[in-house]
Amino acid sequence: MKKKLTAIIKKNQQIAHGMFEMLLSVGEIAALASPGQFINLYSNRKDLLLPRPISICEIDKEKGFIKLVYAVVGKGTSDISKMHVGDIIEVMGPLGNGFTISKEIKGHIIIGGGIGVPPLLELAKGLTGEMSVYLGFRCEPILVEEFKKYTDKVYIATEDGGWGIKGNVIGLLKSNHPKGEMIYSCGPKPMLKAVASWAEDNDIKAQLSLEERMACGIGACLVCTCKAKDNNDWQYKRVCKDGPVFLREEVIW
Ligand code: FES
Repeated sequence: MKKKLTAIIKKNQQIAHGMFEMLLSVGEIAALASPGQFINLYSNRKDLLLPRPISICEIDKEKGFIKLVYAVVGKGTSDISKMHVGDIIEVMGPLGNGFTISKEIKGHIIIGGGIGVPPLLELAKGLTGEMSVYLGFRCEPILVEEFKKYTDKVYIATEDGGWGIKGNVIGLLKSNHPKGEMIYSCGPKPMLKAVASWAEDNDIKAQLSLEERMACGIGACLVCTCKAKDNNDWQYKRVCKDGPVFLREEVIW
């Protein structure tokens, strides 16, 4: 059973409309974390008992830091966004099963949408070989320059056409025809479903990080269950504990 830890806030600043970047000093989590995992953040409000699950964007094992990029979506994250450098915040993690990186695989396709983009950055850092990145946003993109540190093939789509092509990541895939052996994707469910279907049509393996409403974040409450294939049958799996990353063949949409 994971326990709560205290982290020191090293940075907490707005990077886009409603989006914040937080740097935390919490060596125990940084030492164990891998791409695609998340942590529970506990707001200081006594009336909000449930933690906020936030994916890990970057890990600095040497310094013992983790970076989070989070959206302000309610009272808890609004309070967290007002915390200051030097403040202490309670956290738990690393939680969940992240992406699997295999040295055998040389062609990588990263596909992210909206708040699903941040956990893909630490993954991009860890991959070797050819990599292309397809990111979709409603309007304002985030982390684009950070992804460009690892590949010059970064393609953007926005719904309003303000940045990159007007449309979504599936449009980007259809116009770019990327080649690769493995897709890694995180974003809203309709996007992941379309990515899974594109991957199947193109016979490419895919690891999909599901976004699901969570409560406990540690496998105890069953709020986050999804249906997953199991041989010729199916079973419920917990996105927080069995995932959030699943193989595309496992997911029942
Ligand atoms: Fe409670 Fe997943 S959020 S079991």
